[in-house]
Amino acid sequence: MKILQPKQGNYQLQNYESAKNSFSWDDVRDVFTWSKTGKINIAYESIDRHVKEGRGAKKALLYSDPSRNETYTFEQLKKLTNQAAHMFRKLDVEKGDRVFIFMPRAPELYIALLGAIKMGAVVGPLFEAFMKDAVKSRLEDSEASVIVTTPELVSRIPVDELPHLKKIILVGDDVKTDEKHFSYSKEMKACTDDDSAIEWMDLEDGFILHYTSGSTGKPKGVYHVHQAMIQHYQTAKWVLDLREDDIYWCTADPGWVTGTSYGIFGPWLNGATNVIRGGRFSPDDWYDTIEKNNVTVWYSAPTAFRMLMSTPSDVIKKYDLSSIRHILSVGEPLNPEVVRWGWEVFKHRIHDTWWMTETGAMLICNYLSEPIKLGSMGKPFPGIEAAIIDNNGKKLPPNEMGNLAIKKGWPSQMRKIWKNDEKFNEYFAFEGWYVSGDTAYMDEDGYFWFQGRNDDLIMTAGERVGPFEIESKLVEHKAVAEAGVIGKPDEIRGHIIKAFVVLNPSHEYSEELEKEIKTFIKTELSAHAVPKEIEFTDKLPKTRSGKIMRRVLKAWELNEPAGDLSSMDD
Ligand code: PRX
Repeated sequence: MKILQPKQGNYQLQNYESAKNSFSWDDVRDVFTWSKTGKINIAYESIDRHVKEGRGAKKALLYSDPSRNETYTFEQLKKLTNQAAHMFRKLDVEKGDRVFIFMPRAPELYIALLGAIKMGAVVGPLFEAFMKDAVKSRLEDSEASVIVTTPELVSRIPVDELPHLKKIILVGDDVKTDEKHFSYSKEMKACTDDDSAIEWMDLEDGFILHYTSGSTGKPKGVYHVHQAMIQHYQTAKWVLDLREDDIYWCTADPGWVTGTSYGIFGPWLNGATNVIRGGRFSPDDWYDTIEKNNVTVWYSAPTAFRMLMSTPSDVIKKYDLSSIRHILSVGEPLNPEVVRWGWEVFKHRIHDTWWMTETGAMLICNYLSEPIKLGSMGKPFPGIEAAIIDNNGKKLPPNEMGNLAIKKGWPSQMRKIWKNDEKFNEYFAFEGWYVSGDTAYMDEDGYFWFQGRNDDLIMTAGERVGPFEIESKLVEHKAVAEAGVIGKPDEIRGHIIKAFVVLNPSHEYSEELEKEIKTFIKTELSAHAVPKEIEFTDKLPKTRSGKIMRRVLKAWELNEPAGDLSSMDD
């Protein structure tokens, strides 16, 4: 099985070729209120528009975690997000200010995030596993003035070291308040739910800042603007195939871009019912979530599918998963084996989609009405031009490997890297193109095939980790002199983080020390940045200028030729 043909069906994108030839982003604008006013607010269009158009009583959010089970209609979300918007105003947040949200998935996270966007703030969602240093660098760089968090996480925010951070809103029962700390529930109660909360924005005003890792330097703030919604909307319609009667579940956390573009905006802009599950991954919980909510469309990641695949088959047999009609994947290469497994157990094809934090929304996808070539990411979304270019910016013919690039100027493209124009410009080094950093080729039918990253970025369990951040943290440990970090291929997680460490002469290897180093990363940075493996060595391969050659470490690890070593120090 190399190609999976589409099933017959009435899909929102019936004919890819004709859409490709006739589609224009301008056509999408008429769906939304702002086509009449020239002003926009992605939170309004996601929630309030449905109330205005008579869908207020429709279920918008089905939330569950081990201790909560709650349902919210669009009408209820409209009121709550209005209250939240008023709350931020009352706490002196102004249009354009950065409001960060640092908490586990819960209805309050979504309400606060949408409320902040409603009143014109730029939100910065932070993954709950981040520890002090990871939180600090992001708040410092963004100069956030307000953060919404929980009593459990607040100690990881070094308030005294963050002069811009003025207010902390705590979500929880009986929280302690003072001139800097406020209670979410109290503040919300004191606010009205009227529409004057909405700030009408320009198309190019920012609404979200997603911090993500690069292969060098600190995490960078990827800045997106309100009109990205056109693409959230249209890709959710044509790729997720969402309709108002769908019950949709995206498993990603809003700390990552998938959890906002397709965990919040894509589904709600289309008026679908959105399932949000808090708590940790467990096969039983996940299958239960699908069964209990009658999930019809499911968007997840290869690592999760591989974990489900490796679960004994009697687990899945306990559940009725027949509500599912469409499954999709993102974040890492989707192995043909996983697609075959999906076909066997769900009787559905798993549709791969390719995009990045920087691209804001899907760009290369598989579609319900098109054949799937197993192992391929699919074809460019209508209105998107993708190409493989060489290192001089020249387009390459089919089947030649090179840089995966996208013609500049799609609606959800990042508009800047926060306070770092130089980094931003690096993506656009070739006139007219955005260069992704992925290598790929395109076949003669226009399908794209992912080959790897051409930098040292690590994708582990679907999360993007920068080796530099981990290396910098490792050398802060008193026993560590030098460190090099790479991604090592792993069957389940795609890659795991492997560190090569040179100890200071005053320290000797012991199991205890190894544990201590791992704990250090876990408590200072975050659990997902901890190297699963550490190899202690006397020396690291370096360039003459002293830069650690991760490519050589990788070759060592994989027993492969190390390539050109002319720049290596002996
Ligand atoms: O290397 C590609 C990989 O994930 C990178 C982007 O990571 P991030 O910004 O965290 O966004 C992840 C989800 C939007 C890409 O440069 N990647 C993403 N999707 C795929 C993929 N690799 C292979 N196949 C995919 N479908």
